[in-house]
Amino acid sequence: MANISTIYKLSFLAFSYFMHVYGASCPILECWFVQEKPGRGGSFHAAMSQEKSLLYINTDPGSEETRSKIISIDKSLCLSSDPAATLCSSSLHPPEGSVQKPQCEINPFMPQPSTVQWTVPLTDSAHSPIYLQADWYTAALQGFDGQLRLSNVMRAPTATKEPNVVLSVSSRTFMIRSRLGEPVVLDCGFWVDASSPLTGSGFAVEWRYQFRGDGRLVLAYDGKTDRFAETQEEGAGLDFMALHETGNASLILQEAQVRHSGTYICTVYLPYLLAQVAVELEIVEPPSLSIFPSPLPLSMPGQVVTVQCEASGFYPLSLEFHWELTGPGGRVRSLGQGSVTGHRQGPDSTYSQTSRVELDSAKPDLGRGGEVTCVAVHRGGTRRASVTFNITGVSAPSIEDYMAMVAVALGIYGLIKVVSWTFSSGSDDANAQEKVITFS
Ligand SMILES: *[C@@H]1O[C@H](CO)[C@@H](O)[C@H](O)[C@H]1NC(C)=O
Ligand SMILES: *[C@@H]1O[C@H](CO)[C@@H](O)[C@H](O)[C@H]1NC(C)=O
Repeated sequence: MANISTIYKLSFLAFSYFMHVYGASCPILECWFVQEKPGRGGSFHAAMSQEKSLLYINTDPGSEETRSKIISIDKSLCLSSDPAATLCSSSLHPPEGSVQKPQCEINPFMPQPSTVQWTVPLTDSAHSPIYLQADWYTAALQGFDGQLRLSNVMRAPTATKEPNVVLSVSSRTFMIRSRLGEPVVLDCGFWVDASSPLTGSGFAVEWRYQFRGDGRLVLAYDGKTDRFAETQEEGAGLDFMALHETGNASLILQEAQVRHSGTYICTVYLPYLLAQVAVELEIVEPPSLSIFPSPLPLSMPGQVVTVQCEASGFYPLSLEFHWELTGPGGRVRSLGQGSVTGHRQGPDSTYSQTSRVELDSAKPDLGRGGEVTCVAVHRGGTRRASVTFNITGVSAPSIEDYMAMVAVALGIYGLIKVVSWTFSSGSDDANAQEKVITFS
């Protein structure tokens, strides 16, 4: 009897393990199934329908359990294999009760030969394979934590609703921020089902840039003939070994510049198929500050001193200035934002802007002065620059000061005497000469 109960326990453990590995770690994804509304042919803007749908990810193709579910739920698609393993990424499966949800949209897909130049060799045989006669879908997914963007092309034998992934393109870092001058890697990788008859015919990779309606081809590579398309882009490349060996199609930019800021679309082509992901690159460069005049001239009470702070080389535009005065006791007083000039854009497209503050030493709240600091707050970081601001004559002058002043006064008096004596002796001649010149 004891033996039987042990067997039960063991099988329960095995079942739990199975559920943990294949069930809990890779459950169901909620998706929108979006397609053109049927029966509306002829209208230019086709109406779209949107339905909730469930995507079951079955990592064990033989599992009966999952199969029965597929049949009972309409509009759901089941992946009966997931070799790329990306659909099981933790990015797509948030913890229980999480507010943020992964995004998933499924669309019907129509395989067709692509007409762009670098993909033409892929479909040069002219006969489209019988393999294409099936139900095709694309699934676009995005992780809840911003870690994964994924686009899959899936094929289901007609009317089975059990698609397999044939082509998968993904990016693990689709939101990148870089400073100027740094090398940047825009992540994009692809996976192809090796058992698909389309696999042996080669692939093509294309990177396209898009920013506010402006687009350009950055790079295009025809993997079948091993050729690059001509582009204007400099300093952009791929790692060939990684591309052919592991499907790593990441775009490498040697040196980030402002003009690189924008959206990049990584498209991978197989014959008749394509999948793409978008990667955003944001260039953020904090300002360099310079404060002037530096050092500040000594200020007498009643004198107004103007201090300027120039923030330069920053991107993007938005910047905030603050001025602070740190008194001798370490007390910090705000001097406001100063008067800020309009921005200027340099040849490298970075911005500069200046703020000016007037320090009126007669104002009692400035005390004896102290450290004047310009603070520039930017998305790329906060920068500070300081200069010492001294107000003289606030404390009573010492005996030495008086003696020095008397000495200086005597010196000046003596000098005036000497000068006036020198000039008065020869002044008549000088005046006469001046008159001659004036009236000649
Ligand atoms: C792909 O290649 C890039 C550039 O060589 C590298 O930084 C990145 O780590 C690679 N990605 C993977 C998943 O190996
Ligand atoms: C201003 O005052 C500080 C001490 O508060 C002193 O160290 C500094 O030398 C003074 N600067 C000038 C230009 O007099």
